[in-house]
Amino acid sequence: MRHLIAGNWKMNGLAAEAAALAEAVAQGCPVEADLLVFPPATVLTLVARILAGTPVAVGGQDCHTDGSGAHTGDVSASMLRDAGATWVILGHSERRAEHHETDDIVRQKVNAAVACGLNTIVCVGETAEHRREGRQAEIVGWQIAGSLPKDFTGVLAYEPVWAIGTGRTPTEAEVEEMHGFIRGELRRELGVNGEKVCILYGGSVKPSNAAALMALPDVGGALVGGASLVAADFLSIARAAAALSNGSAGG
Ligand code: PGA
Repeated sequence: MRHLIAGNWKMNGLAAEAAALAEAVAQGCPVEADLLVFPPATVLTLVARILAGTPVAVGGQDCHTDGSGAHTGDVSASMLRDAGATWVILGHSERRAEHHETDDIVRQKVNAAVACGLNTIVCVGETAEHRREGRQAEIVGWQIAGSLPKDFTGVLAYEPVWAIGTGRTPTEAEVEEMHGFIRGELRRELGVNGEKVCILYGGSVKPSNAAALMALPDVGGALVGGASLVAADFLSIARAAAALSNGSAGG
C-alpha cells in the first residue's frame, strides 16, 4: 500500500515563502509516497504551476456548497479546479469550530466538490472534553454518518481536535482502536466502498512519530499541519511513508 501524505498549510504563506516551500517539496519528493499540499487560496495558482508535472498534487482547504453566487469571501469547488487544484479538505475542525460548519454542510460541500471532479479529504475527530467523557467513538461515528454522502469514495482524516497543533498525540493503541472503529463505521455506512476509503491520521504528526503512527493497521497516511511548513520535516515524513510502502507486501 502506498501511503498518502497531505500537508495542510492553513493560513500561512505569502507568495515568496509558498513558492520556496513548493519547490523544495517537489525536489525532495520520494517516488514511493503520494504527496499533496494544501496552500492558502491566494497562492493556489502559483503553487499549482510550480508543482505541475511533479508527483505532488495540490488542493484547496475548503470550498462552498454552491458553484457561484453572492457569497462574499468564499471560494467554490470549480474555482479551486480552475486554479489548478485536484483535491480539497472539507470539515476540518478549524472550519467546524470557527465557521460553525455542521456535518450537514460538510456533506453538501463533499457533493459540490465531487461534482466538480475534486478528490476530497473529510476530517472528523473528537474534542478533549469528548475524550475525557469517553465519548470519542460516539462523536466520530456521528460525524462519519452525517458528513459522508452514501456514495463517498474519498479520503477520511481522523484528527482528534486536542492533538492539532499541541504536540500531543493519542497513544498508538488509541489510534489503532479509533481507526479500527472508523473502518467498521465506513463499512456500515458505505458498504463495499467503506473498505477502500483511505484513513489518514492527523494531529501533531512530525518526523519523530510519523513512521510509528503510519505503520498501524488502517492508517493510510498522515494529514500534517505545522510540520508541513518546514520542507525538511514534511519530506522526512514523506520518506517514512515511502519506506513503509517499500516494506509492505505487494508494494
Ligand atoms: P498539526 O495540524 O499537524 O499542526 O497538528 C494538523 C491539521 O490540523 O491538519
